[in-house]
Amino acid sequence: MEDIIVVASGKGGTGKSTVSVGLGTALAKNGSRVLLIDCDSGMRGLDIMLGVTQNLVFDIADAVSGSCTVENTVYPCPDKKGLFLMPAPLNAYDEVAPQILGQLVDGVADIFDYVIIDSPAGVGSGFEAAAFPAKRALVVVNTEPTSIRGAQTVSARLRECGVDNIRLIINRFNKATFRKMGLYRDLDEVIDITALQLLGIVPEDHTLAAAIQSGKSGELNAPAMKALDNIALRLQGKLVPLMIK
Ligand SMILES: Nc1ncnc2c1ncn2[C@@H]1O[C@H](COP(=O)(O)OP(=O)(O)OP(=O)(O)O)[C@@H](O)[C@H]1O
Ligand SMILES: [Mg+2]
Repeated sequence: MEDIIVVASGKGGTGKSTVSVGLGTALAKNGSRVLLIDCDSGMRGLDIMLGVTQNLVFDIADAVSGSCTVENTVYPCPDKKGLFLMPAPLNAYDEVAPQILGQLVDGVADIFDYVIIDSPAGVGSGFEAAAFPAKRALVVVNTEPTSIRGAQTVSARLRECGVDNIRLIINRFNKATFRKMGLYRDLDEVIDITALQLLGIVPEDHTLAAAIQSGKSGELNAPAMKALDNIALRLQGKLVPLMIK
C-alpha cells in the first residue's frame, strides 16, 4: 500500500524541496518506487533539482485540462532508478484544487511505494491542495523562532485538513551557529515547542545543497545525505537511533 506524505513548513525557505528530493533519492536507492509531486504552482523547482527539466512536456495543469493523461505527467529521473517526478504547473493561476489533486494522485499512487508531495510555503490554497491526498506529514524547520512558529501553525492546519500523523525534521542544523545565537537552551527545547515527534536532524551542508541545486544528488556522500538516508530508513520502519547532541 502506497504511503502518501506531504512535506510542509509554514515558513518559506526551510528546506522542504531539498528534503523532498533528498528523501526521494534515499528511498529510491533502497529499492522503493517513489513519486515526487511538485505542488509549488508558478514557482516549481523540483525538475531542476532532479535534472529532468529538458524532458518536460506536460505538467499537472495539462492533466487537469485534459490535454494529457495523468500518466503523461510522470517523468523518470535520469540516473535515479525508481524515482519519478510529477511537475507543478508553470503558472500560478493554474494552481490545482485539493479534490482534483486528490483524484490525480489516486490515478497513479498504486504503482508507487511512496508519494512525496512538496508543498509551497504558507498555509494557503496551494498548501491545502498538497495536504489533501496525504496520509502523513513531515514538517521541516530550522532553529529560528519564526520557522518554529511556522511549524506550530502548519501542524494545526494539517490536523484541520485531517492529517494527524505529523513528524518533525530539523534542517540546516549547525551546532556552532545554534549555540552562538543562544535563542534556545538546546534542541530538546526546540522540539518541545513544536510539540511534534522528531524524525531526524539534517545538518547544514553546502555540498548537499549544491548537489541538489545542480540535479546531481545521486551518489552523494555528504553528511546531510547520510542524515536523509537515515530518515528514509525510519520512514521505512527501520530502527535507526536519533543522535541529539
Ligand atoms: N541542509 C542544508 N544545508 C545547506 N543548505 C540548505 C540545506 N537545506 C536547504 N538548503 C538551502 O536552503 C535554501 C532553501 O531550500 P529549499 O528551496 O529546499 O527550501 P523550501 O522550503 O523548499 O523553500 P520554499 O518555501 O521557497 O519552497 C536553498 O538555497 C537550499 O540550497
Ligand atoms: Mg520549495
